[in-house]
Amino acid sequence: MIKQNVNLGDRTYPIYIETDYGSIEKCLESAKISGTIVVITDSNVDKFQCADLMSALESCKNPVYKYVIDAGEKSKNLMTIQKIYQYLMSLKLDRKATLVALGGGVVGDITGFAAATFLRGINFVQVPTTLLAQADSSVGGKVGVDFEGSKNIIGSFYQPKFVYINVNSLKTLPERELKAGLAEVVKHGIILDMEFFEYIDDNIDKIFKVNEDVMKYLTKVNCSIKAGIVEKDEKENGLREILNFGHTIGHAIESVMNFELLHGECIAIGFVGAFKLAGYMGMVNASELEKVISLLKKAGLPVRLEGLDVDRVYKQMFYDKKIKDNKLTFILPKSIGGVLQLIVDDEQLIKKVLGELR
Ligand SMILES: NC(=O)c1ccc[n+]([C@@H]2O[C@H](COP(=O)([O-])OP(=O)(O)OC[C@H]3O[C@@H](n4cnc5c(N)ncnc54)[C@H](O)[C@@H]3O)[C@@H](O)[C@H]2O)c1
Ligand SMILES: [Zn+2]
Repeated sequence: MIKQNVNLGDRTYPIYIETDYGSIEKCLESAKISGTIVVITDSNVDKFQCADLMSALESCKNPVYKYVIDAGEKSKNLMTIQKIYQYLMSLKLDRKATLVALGGGVVGDITGFAAATFLRGINFVQVPTTLLAQADSSVGGKVGVDFEGSKNIIGSFYQPKFVYINVNSLKTLPERELKAGLAEVVKHGIILDMEFFEYIDDNIDKIFKVNEDVMKYLTKVNCSIKAGIVEKDEKENGLREILNFGHTIGHAIESVMNFELLHGECIAIGFVGAFKLAGYMGMVNASELEKVISLLKKAGLPVRLEGLDVDRVYKQMFYDKKIKDNKLTFILPKSIGGVLQLIVDDEQLIKKVLGELR
């Protein structure tokens, strides 16, 4: 078992990286979790992963229940939270209870929000089953739901007791979702670690086959990069913003395209935009952009979007909830492995870059 800590003082917690669900009971024990356990999952993950997790929890002394929500972002709202509260009330839970999120980022964000608020906070455990969730959303404590068309606008920071990653759970994940998750993994390489970027490039075929050893290493580096950033800036007052690399353009494309493209696909196009912008600003040379494009293509991710509506995407960027003083902020590369945050106040240049993404 690989163990990686996220060091946050009295909220410090471990991430366990495993190849099955067999050790989860031991992890519950070492987290001193003794009350009722409620596994929250979605209708797809329930079919593919839940039986294995439930049987690993079978010999648990604690009572174990399961609650299934409909799969997909459309469930990420206060109505689902209300139904979860009603279910938890029906079980007459006390504050020793634990919610286990088994699923992707949607299940993780919803379950974490329910755990943060029910009885003013009960235990929360993350068992992420998408690459996006294993590499990104399960680490860092951001939890919440969408509200009236705005993504993640209601939420909190609430750290889990531990994160349990079974890398083999990715074997049942649709390939398009795996590729989209890979975008966040590539992002980690671009923002902080050139060697990791090259490792992904060298092992792309093994990643697609969910090779155990490669996935264990990949997950370990991912978690240590994300944990390292979160440890320094838990509530996103500074450094954590570098994780938004590619997201200024990516989020805007995601909205303009009505969420028909996956998040990872949109930020991949955003990475190319950020490299082009930095290129025009003399911060990075063209050969780095070529390396990024080549890896994204190998990863089966888009590097442009036919018919991209430059004016709409430009306008949409100003609706980002992270915007300050109506100025566009970008995380821009200095090289593969290093970025910095800059305000770019040049409409013409930004539109020129967006035009090149078509
Ligand atoms: N909290 C954070 O820091 C953070 C960071 C990034 C993204 N997010 C959020 O994460 C969400 C996206 O997460 P996601 O991409 O994991 O989406 P998701 O949870 O919707 O999962 C994608 C799809 O894969 C299915 N699935 C999940 N695991 C599976 C498995 N092992 N086998 C078969 N099918 C499986 C799901 O049912 C779903 O249909 C968004 O709501 C986003 O806002 C949160
Ligand atoms: Zn993202």
